[in-house]
Amino acid sequence: MIKEEKAGRPCVIYGFELSGEDERLPEAEIIALFETYGIEIERISRLNRLLLLEVRGEGGSPEFHELISRIALSHLVLEVFALTDATLEEIESAALEMRERIRGSYAVDVKIWNNRNFSTLELERLVGSWLYHGGVWVDLKEPGTLVKLYIIEDKAVIGKVIHTRDRRGFRDRLPHHRPFFAPGVLKPKLARALVNLSRLKPSERLLDPFAGTGGILLEAGLMGMVVMGLDIQEKMVRGASENLRELEHASLILGDARTLPFKDASVDGVVTDPPYGRSSKIKGGSIEMLYRSALCEINRILKYGRFAVILADRPVEEVITEAGLLLIDRYSLRIHRSMIRWIYLLRKDPGDVYEKVYIAKMRG
Ligand SMILES: C[S@@+](CC[C@H](N)C(=O)[O-])C[C@H]1O[C@@H](n2cnc3c(N)ncnc32)[C@H](O)[C@@H]1O
Repeated sequence: MIKEEKAGRPCVIYGFELSGEDERLPEAEIIALFETYGIEIERISRLNRLLLLEVRGEGGSPEFHELISRIALSHLVLEVFALTDATLEEIESAALEMRERIRGSYAVDVKIWNNRNFSTLELERLVGSWLYHGGVWVDLKEPGTLVKLYIIEDKAVIGKVIHTRDRRGFRDRLPHHRPFFAPGVLKPKLARALVNLSRLKPSERLLDPFAGTGGILLEAGLMGMVVMGLDIQEKMVRGASENLRELEHASLILGDARTLPFKDASVDGVVTDPPYGRSSKIKGGSIEMLYRSALCEINRILKYGRFAVILADRPVEEVITEAGLLLIDRYSLRIHRSMIRWIYLLRKDPGDVYEKVYIAKMRG
């Protein structure tokens, strides 16, 4: 078991099997969630689509469980037992060491990426037999412990699955299953990942100033945030209200993103998907003008040091800088062959906090 004592607390390695949607976004989502919950990562490494994070102590904490339950862009989370060379001898000795930890029913699932020396079925059979001991039994349908072995090039990673993504939940929430539908809606997985990038915790206030049918708000609301949406079209406000009717803390306002009805520095996070250049639903002059005014407003209403996540169909760096927001990162997302969207992670300058406190003190 990879457990090393550090400062009195053991270090555990967790593996995240990232989904293939994009090169950087699934990893960025995990890192953002760790930052949100203040769980320190000792070391990060990556083997193909398996992200390995060495974490001190917090593994079993309620915060850690909340964190992993929020992930959208990873298929599963693994508590890593051993990281070895991909040879039968090494895998056997890791499996033999691991077997004492297995109680009740178990199953083995093998994944092989870029290695032609092994067969999945053969490895599943072998590892299953190495793990077998008195008092355990194989249950392929609903195993108490699912052991996962990854062969990734010349490395092997073995561990037990501690979380799998709720595929059914995401499927049930697909836009066409909701009471109100309109074209151009974000899929729930992407909407959730965008919310996670914004580094918000449950109970914090999230605003989507171009709410549309409420796809972003729905995911945030399900993660416990207090959600507020704004749209310039009445039918969207009505439709989104219907889509969000089961959320306890959701409000929708008919309004214009260029003049937000919120006080300065009053919102914990903004996640939004403004209209695109080709859209006929742009209200407020050209798309550039709309972005310019909306980003200035977002900067005004955001709390100092907090984040905004904005989707765009074109690079908008210039507008971001003009609005006074800090550009933290940009991810590209291929929607289909000819369509790319840009995801901007922005931050309101945290420096102002100190400046404000300083000014307040100076004034007595
Ligand atoms: C791309 S859609 C948002 C889709 C949304 N993410 C969803 O999941 O349904 C953009 C929305 O912005 C709204 N909109 C356009 N101009 C606006 C403005 N000036 N202020 C507020 N909303 C506006 C449109 O009515 C449209 O619903």
